[in-house]
Amino acid sequence: MHSDKLGLDTLAIHAGQEPDPTHAAVMQPIVMASTFAQAEPGKPKLFEYSRSGNPTRQALESCLAALEGGTHGFAFASGSAATLTLLHTLKPGDHIVSGDDVYGGTFRLFDKVLKPMGVNTTFVDLRQPERLESAITPQTRLVWMETPTNPMLKLFDIEAIAARCKTHGIPLAVDNTFASPVIQQPLKLGAAIVVHSTTKYINGHSDVVGGALITSDDAIAERVGFYQNAIGGVPSPFDCYMVLRGIKTLPVRMRHQAQSAEILARRLEGRKGVKTVHYPGLESHPDHALAKRQMRLPGAMVSVDLAANVDQAKRFLSALRIFTLAESLGGVESLAEHPAIMTHASIPKETRDAIGIGDGLVRLSVGLEDVEDLWADLEGAFAAAAL
Ligand SMILES: Cc1ncc(COP(=O)(O)O)c(C=O)c1O
Repeated sequence: MHSDKLGLDTLAIHAGQEPDPTHAAVMQPIVMASTFAQAEPGKPKLFEYSRSGNPTRQALESCLAALEGGTHGFAFASGSAATLTLLHTLKPGDHIVSGDDVYGGTFRLFDKVLKPMGVNTTFVDLRQPERLESAITPQTRLVWMETPTNPMLKLFDIEAIAARCKTHGIPLAVDNTFASPVIQQPLKLGAAIVVHSTTKYINGHSDVVGGALITSDDAIAERVGFYQNAIGGVPSPFDCYMVLRGIKTLPVRMRHQAQSAEILARRLEGRKGVKTVHYPGLESHPDHALAKRQMRLPGAMVSVDLAANVDQAKRFLSALRIFTLAESLGGVESLAEHPAIMTHASIPKETRDAIGIGDGLVRLSVGLEDVEDLWADLEGAFAAAAL
């Protein structure tokens, strides 16, 4: 299949998935075998051992590579396993520059896992791409960022930052979890590596924890492939099947969820009890012009700064009936959470305050429910919090 000629809706359903040659089954078989028979010693047919490679995982990896416009895809047991496998390609003394607003667990990997191993990270607000230069040292071996960021939904200019990274010979890795390839394909904008928590939009049904890494750089792929096998943070064949199944509806889900998110963001913006709505699709968003240039859709995540103290924010969240109060995002069901108490608790309070993750900040992941039901649910929560 020549994936560069096909649209994303087609790739989501077919890429990496040919009917099974034995039974002509239309859906990818789940090959649970941990090992594969060899005709003679040291001569495996296609696969040898399922940590090193597995047919169901290979189908998922090919599909993910096609969706991101890359040539090599790697699937992992979680987004964190994907991130850490990439970070393991660094060595003591190396340095990372990271966007200043990253998923709390990624911050924890930089701060609590990599730092003790001698790899330091400098966090920079990359909304001014020229700030990258002041953070780069002769030891910098990786630039990492999320865009939109989690939870402030700031945007970083992938093309501009990738161009600067290229002049320094440093690979740029973009965590594309919040956007998904339906919204933006960082490799096409010059990034060297894309990372996903497939737990989120890619799988989309809140029933798998998984991760992915995609690149078109053969040297990076060789190292990541080595570490994927050596470390072994790989997903089960069943989980690979589930993610492949979820991907088939990714473009449709993403479009519908983004449409509902925009409706809710616009209503929230004008409402009493709301200080700021962070949503790239709003004209008031500081990076709105970049959103129009870089993103095909403004996404389905909305962060809302309520004019609330922490107790009111808790009451607001506890009163929701259709939005589920839970960590994570990107599923068909709407979720709401309090970043300072939940997803970003591992970030020190001073850092949280500097980024803007305050007591009144609530993050919404808008799902596929009827948007009027979602709005009524939010109105009920405003009433319960006396906002
Ligand atoms: C942007 C982002 N990247 C990475 C991760 C980590 O993924 P996982 O939970 O699958 O390990 C998350 C999890 O919430 C995330 O939101």
